Amino acid sequence: MIILAIIFIAVCIYWIYWLAHARRMDRMTKSLPVLPTLPLIGNGSLFLGDTQQILKNLWTVANLAFKHKNSAKLWLGPKLYVAIGDPGDAQVVLENCLDKDVVYRFLRPWLGHGLFVAPVNLWKTHRKVLLPVFHNKVVEEYLGVIAEQADVLIDRLAERIDGEKFDMLKYITACTLDIVFETAMGERMGVQQSPDTPYLRARHTVMTILNMRLFKVWLQPDCLFNLTQYAKQQKDNIDLTHKFTDEVVQKRRLEYEENKKKNIVKEQRGKLRAVLDLLFGREIEFTDEQLREHIDSITIAGNDTTALVIAYTLVLLGIHQDAQEKVLAEQQSIFGTSTQGATKDDLQKMHYLERVIKESMRLYTVVPIIARNVDRDIYLPTCGVTLPAGTGAVIGAFAIHRSAAWGPDHDEFDPDRFLPERSQTRHPAAFLPFSYGSRNCIGRNFGMLIMKSIISSVVRSYKIEADDIGPLKIEMLLFPINGHLIKISKRTL
Ligand code: HEM
Repeated sequence: MIILAIIFIAVCIYWIYWLAHARRMDRMTKSLPVLPTLPLIGNGSLFLGDTQQILKNLWTVANLAFKHKNSAKLWLGPKLYVAIGDPGDAQVVLENCLDKDVVYRFLRPWLGHGLFVAPVNLWKTHRKVLLPVFHNKVVEEYLGVIAEQADVLIDRLAERIDGEKFDMLKYITACTLDIVFETAMGERMGVQQSPDTPYLRARHTVMTILNMRLFKVWLQPDCLFNLTQYAKQQKDNIDLTHKFTDEVVQKRRLEYEENKKKNIVKEQRGKLRAVLDLLFGREIEFTDEQLREHIDSITIAGNDTTALVIAYTLVLLGIHQDAQEKVLAEQQSIFGTSTQGATKDDLQKMHYLERVIKESMRLYTVVPIIARNVDRDIYLPTCGVTLPAGTGAVIGAFAIHRSAAWGPDHDEFDPDRFLPERSQTRHPAAFLPFSYGSRNCIGRNFGMLIMKSIISSVVRSYKIEADDIGPLKIEMLLFPINGHLIKISKRTL
């Protein structure tokens, strides 16, 4: 009885505190539009239904925002979120609010304090150490690995020549996994040869549970989630993936220590220096656990994103044959009839392909939403509102990419909108596929190298045909409901 009374009093105190806090937040953001709310859940019903419906609901919020200075607010249970569809306001948030929103906490058991979810203070020091590892000069050393895996991909795709339409994402994902694993950990995984391993299955299971938890609000509180079978399944599979990376880290640490004893310099000619190798002996002496967290974060943040952009771009080239012809002409001007992998110089000449990839990332923004915690009151100049500390700021990159900032034809595929002369007056934060500000994607240059190189190889080998991309759904990333369907035929150059 006493315990019940204490709980009741505690709930009442929390309720009074929350009410005062929420009133202040509501007052400060009163000029922002809001969809009708329900008691207790607020606008939580937006997250009911399947992931296609949820994406449609998010578009409803975006359209409401577009009519009111590009911002709108949402109450998700007791928490206030402000959805931002304006480049200027997005820039202010992404430059000033470096802390990720609480929703990223679901990734913590998996990625620990790796860059992706690290708290700001730790992130600042670690990001400084990791930045040089992703410098252009370093990632260009990986072009050999990329070219080798692109060749395997081309061979694997041969089984689809002149066949029915097929979903090409699984081919591309296997290829990018091989690239990202080898360059991040120095381990050749051979996913393209044997895609079904316990490690990959475990990774897939964890991702599926995380996606589910993100959009099923009743699974979000730990106390409820822990009552489900998913909690144990998630833990077992996370343990399995951790064990895998731990073993690689320990092996590489031994090699590093032995080389140090023998006084062998880091830059051994001809030997690939993986990201992991470059993280030993730095200004911060990372523990094995920290190394695992960074490597897991890099392989998870870097793989599906890159694979998805490649897949969307190839489907778009299949739909827009004129653009595919232009890409091909550019490739032929660089390679002639050669099918060899792209070098750094080759990639620098792929101006049109680069515009096509950017246009693909604009129309199909694979990281559609970026959510930050507002840790101090912050003024947003376009909507003219001060966001109170404690708000969640939701940057709708998918909506900004199809907003008025792109002109009346924002739904059209037009790679030339990225020509320098047509980009000059555009707001710098109108295009944020890799986020914006100091906490943007650390692997963006590496991602561009992979994407250009793989698409170059595929287009030189195969003619692609595709119909519409069709309806989309939102998970952590953006997917087409029907998959990335294409048909291919062999090119004779
Ligand atoms: C087309 C490919 C890619 C896209 C569209 C992309 C997109 C993004 C976005 C939007 C963020 C910020 C997410 C947020 O704040 O919620 C991010 C962060 C990150 N990305 Fe990428 N990414 C790509 C490729 C890569 C690659 C190839 C790597 C590494 C191999 C990578 C590693 C990371 C890491 C470690 C972070 C966290 C950075 C930090 O918080 O400091 N990404 N990425």
